[in-house]
Amino acid sequence: MTSKRTLLSAMALAVALTAGMTATLDSTASAGTTLKASAAEKGRYFGAAVATGKLSDSQYVGILNREFNSVVAENEMKWDATEPQQGRFSYTGGDRLVSHARANGMSVRGHALLWHAQQPGWAQSLSGSALRNAAINHVTQVASHFRGQIHSWDVVNEAFADGGGGGRRDSNLQRTGNDWIEAAFRAARAADPGAKLCYNDYNTDGVNAKSTGVYNMVRDFKARGVPIDCVGFQSHLGTSLPGDYQANLQRFADLGVDVQITELDVMKGANQANIYAAVTRSCLAVSRCNGITVWGVRDSDSWRGTDDALLFDRSGNKKPAYTAVLNALNEGGNPPSTPPPGLPVDTSAWYLLVNRNSGKALDVYNLATNDGARISQWTRNGGANQQWQFVDSGGGYYRLKSRHSGKVLDVYNFSTSDAAAIVQWSDGNGTNQQFRLAESAGGYVRVINRNSGKAVEVQGASTSDGANVVQYTDWGGNNQQWQLIRIG
Ligand code: G3I
Repeated sequence: MTSKRTLLSAMALAVALTAGMTATLDSTASAGTTLKASAAEKGRYFGAAVATGKLSDSQYVGILNREFNSVVAENEMKWDATEPQQGRFSYTGGDRLVSHARANGMSVRGHALLWHAQQPGWAQSLSGSALRNAAINHVTQVASHFRGQIHSWDVVNEAFADGGGGGRRDSNLQRTGNDWIEAAFRAARAADPGAKLCYNDYNTDGVNAKSTGVYNMVRDFKARGVPIDCVGFQSHLGTSLPGDYQANLQRFADLGVDVQITELDVMKGANQANIYAAVTRSCLAVSRCNGITVWGVRDSDSWRGTDDALLFDRSGNKKPAYTAVLNALNEGGNPPSTPPPGLPVDTSAWYLLVNRNSGKALDVYNLATNDGARISQWTRNGGANQQWQFVDSGGGYYRLKSRHSGKVLDVYNFSTSDAAAIVQWSDGNGTNQQFRLAESAGGYVRVINRNSGKAVEVQGASTSDGANVVQYTDWGGNNQQWQLIRIG
């Protein structure tokens, strides 16, 4: 006990000593001025499709590194590129992109393990079990090669037909049997258990026959335990956006998968900026929308020729569409509380806890990893020290585990007093480490300690970075209310 008290005084001293560090952290935050910083503030990534041949173009790389924190290979991870001859694999382009991403703090989407297009000639001439075996071997080999490096894989791309039928597209892969998609997902999971596994398609941007066909497949996969984690909506858009774009994303999220905007580009014209903004707002409004990828950097990099469909013009200047996306990211309201109060939380997910009064996130102060380190609020930056996992203690109580430190929220020294410090401590599943969620209006929750019955609050209703988080008698103030934002 004594040593804990001593530690607390030492902590107070450490807080005073690190005041300079606080200023440093503050000044390095570039929130609101780039796509990646603004998206990160909302718990999202912002990515671009990259042609690795352009990584030697300094203007291209300058924009890529400044604005984006996720990349996907426009062509280099496709079947024709990675297995040009059967059983002979080539990873030069993909490896180059992964190493650029690692060097610059970017995550990588993998695109695409199986697709009816861009197959190498040898695969196009196969059928039946020979093709099925070759396809599954391809999934296994490529996903194994990139194991641990891919945030999300497009395991299967564009397998549904356009038009009103809602059925599968005819292809050589489809003719190997309707179960080819689930076989691919199972092989991908076995090869890279850490990657999210996505189904990806186009013309699925509203509620229509094709998207409903995909929806039914995902629902069936979830019911039967086929490993699928996400659905990609390519969003190659014309001069209008379906009015139910957001509702369509939400209905997939409600099946228990993440959703991602994977290949966004929009036809030039008077609506371009508005459509970009509306897509961005839709992703922010759906808590399981992980992020947005645009299909290229400058208009001159786009597969769409003269459509000028991207965020930067041919000289690398920001377009009105860029500003519209940035503003939407900065202005975007927080998504509704996840889960809805009263429902169990997802113990496999990571959440931000954002205070209703300050808009700031629950944060392990100064990236500490030690027992007793204080918990504060800080401007949202998407850091691991702002991410929390709910660990089930039974009876509706949970520990809140920091992604950064692995330690859990703890009412210091089992205090039952008002204003007692909330710290992090090694997980001992003590009742001072267990919390339940109590519902407040508007999708917010109070976080109530099992031992003390008191609520986790921002002390003094402060709105400053670094303000203390303590426990206090539950009176329902805005500084005691938190929004749970699922970010992964
Ligand atoms: O690199 C060769 C070049 O050496 C050759 O001379 C030239 C002759 O046409 O072709 C070049 O390869 C082209 C490649 O892009 C790189 O530019 C291919 O022909 C061309 O088919 C390929 O197009 C890509 C297309 O997918 C087909 O794979 C586009 O760049 C790429 O943007 C596009 O991306 C797809 C997504 O993967 C899936 N969703 C739709 C999206 C747009 O079509």
